[in-house]
Amino acid sequence: MTKGVKMTNQITFYDPTMRDGEQTIGVNFTIDEKIKLAQALEKYGVSAIEAGFPAASKKDFDAVVEISKVVHTAKVVGLARLVRQDIDAVVAATQQAKHPMIHVFIATSPVHRTYKLHMSPSEIIEKVISDIRYTKTMMSEIIFSPEDATRTEPEFLARVIQAAIESGATMINIPDTVGYATPYEYGELFEYLREHVRDFDQVTWATHTHNDLGMANANALAGIMHGATEIQGTINGIGERAGNVDIIEAAAAIYVRRQTFAKQTAIILEQSKHISDIVAQATHMPVAKNKPIMGRNAFAHESGIHQDGYLKNPETYEILRPEMVGTQASLPLGKLSGSHAVMNQLLSLGYHISRQDMVTILPIFKRIAEKTSTVSDQQMQDMMTMIQTNKMM
Ligand code: KIV
Ligand code: ZN
Repeated sequence: MTKGVKMTNQITFYDPTMRDGEQTIGVNFTIDEKIKLAQALEKYGVSAIEAGFPAASKKDFDAVVEISKVVHTAKVVGLARLVRQDIDAVVAATQQAKHPMIHVFIATSPVHRTYKLHMSPSEIIEKVISDIRYTKTMMSEIIFSPEDATRTEPEFLARVIQAAIESGATMINIPDTVGYATPYEYGELFEYLREHVRDFDQVTWATHTHNDLGMANANALAGIMHGATEIQGTINGIGERAGNVDIIEAAAAIYVRRQTFAKQTAIILEQSKHISDIVAQATHMPVAKNKPIMGRNAFAHESGIHQDGYLKNPETYEILRPEMVGTQASLPLGKLSGSHAVMNQLLSLGYHISRQDMVTILPIFKRIAEKTSTVSDQQMQDMMTMIQTNKMM
């Protein structure tokens, strides 16, 4: 643990699937889908649900209102630019939430200041101070994000954040908005901020990592090694462009490598498949077969060597029991499968065969497997009927 960092080993998860996740091209949750997802997320163990951007549309506003009514323990958060109308909309939409929170943001990097906001660094600091003070008169829990933090001059970033904390922000989120940072840099940025933000220990720090270079999970984990105690991420990693860090992957990594991280989470990992399915269905975005943890192939072992090892002891090729994340392992039979797995499957189909019988069966199986992607149970049964009819063993 780094010197001066708050001593907690509890990592919380903040879920913006319904806001950042909904920024995925083609994704448009209905209010009913959002309510169902919010309830599932709460059971999954996330500590905050960013339910929408109330000023963006009536539908987003209504979704935040409805979610505020049904969520009991998690914070319900609405997103707002540092614009009074946005802030007022979040305050109104979260009125019925048991634990309301507002997420305010403004971009801080040179490219955003120059081309998007047309604001100078001092104008940004003034805006942060005046609008967070304004927000604080109505909301006690405020999360502040300097958008594109990882491409912002660190010295300016520290000044903006200090101003946000002094004005009333209770949590600081460090967005790697365009997925540009490397894990080393992202961790170092937290170190820099710890050294240069006077009130670092007065607030909670969150990671917010995008996956443009495939480093979202590594970056989030680097953040928690250097002072962050909350990870913002989405289910199935959906989000703008290449998406956000996938909460399921981050929580699984913290669990599998618990000795390395010395951290724990409140996530009920066994519900991962259930929540992943809810999001896949509502977004019409099936999970890629080779996606870590939730992909159909994540716990599938096809080659003979792997199947043999797995059947002797699953730990040979598994770092996490699939049941831990609500799914199962599979041993699909294909051209690379070996005698051990083929025999195992025939026994489970009810055939009484010996190792000696496999001398006859395996070459026939291989001929069938070479002509197909995976060999189904029906094909296995047809093969056995043919072998028995022809009295081949
Ligand atoms: O990626 C980002 O910068 C965001 C902000 C709104 C926090 O999603
Ligand atoms: Zn984002």
